[in-house]
Amino acid sequence: MKYTVKSTALAAVETSLLVGLFEDDMLSESAARLDQLSGGYLTQLLQSGEISGKHGQVTVLRNIPQLKAERLFIVGCGKQNELTERRYKQLIQKAIGAVKETKAAQLVSLLGDVAINGRSVEWNLRFALEAIEDSFYLFDRFKSNKNEPSAVLNEVVFHVDAAQTAPAERALQQAQAIALGIRAAKDLANCPPNICNPAYLAQQAEALAQQSALITTTVVGEKTMAELGMNAYLAVSQGSKNEAQMAIIDYRNHPDPQAKPIVLVGKGLTFDAGGISLKPADSMDEMKYDMCGAASVFGVMQAVAQLQLPLNVIGILAGCENLPDGNAYRPGDILTTLAGLTVEVLNTDAEGRLVLCDALTYAERFEPAMVVDIATLTGACVVALGQHNSGLVATDDELAQELLTAAQQAADKAWRLPLSEEYQEQLKSNFADLANIGGRWGGAITAGAFLANFTKKYRWAHLDIAGTAWLQGANKGATGRPVGLLTQFLINQADKSA
Ligand code: BES
Ligand code: MN
Ligand code: ZN
Repeated sequence: MKYTVKSTALAAVETSLLVGLFEDDMLSESAARLDQLSGGYLTQLLQSGEISGKHGQVTVLRNIPQLKAERLFIVGCGKQNELTERRYKQLIQKAIGAVKETKAAQLVSLLGDVAINGRSVEWNLRFALEAIEDSFYLFDRFKSNKNEPSAVLNEVVFHVDAAQTAPAERALQQAQAIALGIRAAKDLANCPPNICNPAYLAQQAEALAQQSALITTTVVGEKTMAELGMNAYLAVSQGSKNEAQMAIIDYRNHPDPQAKPIVLVGKGLTFDAGGISLKPADSMDEMKYDMCGAASVFGVMQAVAQLQLPLNVIGILAGCENLPDGNAYRPGDILTTLAGLTVEVLNTDAEGRLVLCDALTYAERFEPAMVVDIATLTGACVVALGQHNSGLVATDDELAQELLTAAQQAADKAWRLPLSEEYQEQLKSNFADLANIGGRWGGAITAGAFLANFTKKYRWAHLDIAGTAWLQGANKGATGRPVGLLTQFLINQADKSA
């Protein structure tokens, strides 16, 4: 899809127009202008009940008096004071659904004046673009019959006032970069586990370096991990024939080359069967999504490179596979981590923290300004927060607040969980420094508490995306979250240091 920003006169538009209508009977600015141009046509239709502002209701009109536009799509936006980011995305998707049914090739969106509570035109544009991209997303790489291109639409023009073109252009650029990152994360995550294994993840990371001169990628394999002593990571991998691969995507574009990097670490379990503590068969296929943390880091790195943010950012994709096998690690095993702490394995399905603890220790070598890890870490997080908020656990309050701010801005929600010292007590082991599980209660927090033992040398936060990274059921598929949150966070970091 091509996206542009323009401020052409409405009367001159010859293609299709999209305008919003609130339920409160008040015509939006652009609806009022169209009404005026057409000699009160919209008011007439409103009075006779043909159109209303009911949320999500779409009407298509042709041959509108005095307008050159081929079509006019009117979408109901509901009550103005009830319009949230979510309802806004929903109504865009409804409108796009109707556009898809027609032969419209270019759509000029006048939804810029449909204000979401407290949001500017620029945010409005970003959310629109995200929703449009989402409704066109398809993963048919493995279908014999590729879906026919479902619409003729190939260009969306965001119509803004002339004075707003510059900020709108900037918003468009950011939105397109984020959309690119979300798409990359979705494609990687939806890929099946027989194709997307740790080596495939690493190859994708290497391909990024080919695309951008600002990126260098290196891959750490099992031999190096063994030399370094990353025994927890290796233990998880030892039941799989696929070698573990940790890809380091190094993006350097800070005006001060010595500036400390921001490090993102993504859990990249390309499949998690649970190991000897085998998972039940139901929905086990969904554990191909246990690499969504890594996929989101991959997407963010693409977005950052596209935006050429003036930052140093290192993305680590911690690729690995957790399978039962004659050579698999067992409950009862004691592992010596890269940090030197010993861990008693009480459940081989709590593997993410074992991979991450060594990857997090490895990150120390970059002397990071801060580290954020992203992981589909616990079912407990989904129990606590459902599928709408990612769980945030952090030892650094300022970093946590900055992530929450970015989440709010990007409408990619997150909620902080407490991390007080009591939780550490649940991780006591009779035989080692730590156990890898913390018992029945507060599982999302004890998982974070486990990781916190390995992040003492830098500012750290952890995002548990077990509930938010993919959808189940009829709409099964990756969401690309939290690429929006993280990219916004990095945009804010760049603005701060400018
Ligand atoms: N990848 C899973 C977490 C998960 C489960 C994410 C279901 C999304 C949906 C993780 O490796 C895991 O198995 N965690 C265990 C931890 C437990 C053994 C302490 C869990 O949540 O059950
Ligand atoms: Mn597991
Ligand atoms: Zn897992």
